[in-house]
Order: sequence, then C-alpha cells, then structure tokens
Amino acid sequence: MIKRRIKGGRTGTFVSLEGIEGTGKSTQAKLLSEYLSKKGFNTILTEEPGGTVISRQIRRVLLSTRHDKMDYMAELLLYNAARIQHLKEKIIPVINSGKIVITDRFSDSTVAYQGYGRGISLKLIDTLDKIATGGMRPDITILFDLDVEIGLKRNRKINKRDRLELEDIEFHRRVREGYLQLAAMEPERIKLINASKNIDTVHHEIIGIINKFLQGITLNIVPVR
Ligand code: TMP
Repeated sequence: MIKRRIKGGRTGTFVSLEGIEGTGKSTQAKLLSEYLSKKGFNTILTEEPGGTVISRQIRRVLLSTRHDKMDYMAELLLYNAARIQHLKEKIIPVINSGKIVITDRFSDSTVAYQGYGRGISLKLIDTLDKIATGGMRPDITILFDLDVEIGLKRNRKINKRDRLELEDIEFHRRVREGYLQLAAMEPERIKLINASKNIDTVHHEIIGIINKFLQGITLNIVPVR
C-alpha cells in the first residue's frame, strides 16, 4: 500500500480557506470539496467556529447579536475552545485516516480578527494557539481577498448579519490588513486570490492551486510497509 506522508508524519491533507466577510469563501469551499470528491479524494468539509456539536454551541454564543457585551478576551478564548474541540474530535482523526480536510476558517482567522481587528497582542494569540493546536497548521491556505465595502454589501444582500459583521468598517479594514500581512509572512502556505472575480473564475484558480499542491506532495510519495 502507498500512502502520502507529509509534514509531521500526517498522511492526510489539511486545507483552510480564509478571508474577510462576504468573499464567497463558503460557496468556494463547497465547490472545492465536490471537485476533490469527484476526483476520488476522500474529502471532508468543515468550518470554524463549528464542525462538532460542542463547537457549534460555542459558535452560537460567539455570533449572537444579543451578546454585544462580550469581552474581547472571552471572545478569544471561546474561539480557541471551539478549535480545540474541533481538532480533537474531527480534524485530527480525519487527517490521520488519510483524508483531505477542508476547513472554512482556522487559526489565521483568530490572528486577523482578534489580533489585528481587536488589537489583542499577537504574542498572546500565538501562545494560546500553541495550547489549542499544538502548532498544527494547514498544509495550504487559500486567502480570499476583497474590498471590505464590497464584502459587507454582499453579506447585507443575503441578510447575513452576526455579531462580528456588525463591527464598524475600520475593524474590517484592520482584519483585511492582518490577512495580507499573514500572506506576506507565509507565502509558501498562504495563497492569495482575488475574490472579486466571478464564481467560476475563482473556482478554477483554486483548483489550479490545489492540484499543483497535491501533485507536489504526491511526488514525495513514501511507500508504507
Ligand atoms: P463565518 O464563518 O460565517 O464567516 O462566521 C464566523 C465569524 O467569526 C466571522 O465573522 C469571523 C469570526 N471569527 C473570528 O473572529 N475568529 C476566529 O478565530 C474565527 C474562526 C472566526
């Protein structure tokens, strides 16, 4: 039997999709998951905060517009709590069974939203992230970049409004800037795409990136005895 072995001895592949509000990321996550499944890859699509019963409960607490009194530190800890549960219960077992996990958001969201957006120390965020994830990073991340006003307008059109989306425009600008900084710091992992293009064009760009990545790791194939 031949299995792909990549970073950290994992046999599966961990893909994350990231971006500000209204980039069409969730639609693209579904399209990518369908595409990979059709190609014969065993693929699981999940999201943060969410992916498990407990993490979805935490998501409700985090995103309820009634919770406008939530302290930024409580918010940060709740995102991490949801992530720990998601990793232990779902992401790690699925990756260890050799499948592809596509997650709509992961740790980069915390750096962008709670770090750059809220202004919480990036060092503290990193320390908590190490506790929550043990340093586990996606193998590849697609970052959807878009003008902040356009993104928020798109979400308003489909009536998508949660506690974070209701933040002022400056907050969302800082989040976008945070993401761009992350992409500049980790160009190998984080692939930036222009989300203002139409659904089909964006989908083809994404599958181009993912296919190239998957080909790269298949070249490093290691027979498992
Ligand atoms: P969404 O998945 O529908 O975009 O909603 C998740 C919201 O939570 C979105 O506004 C981004 C925000 N978020 C954070 O602020 N920090 C995080 O760590 C994650 C995963 C999401």
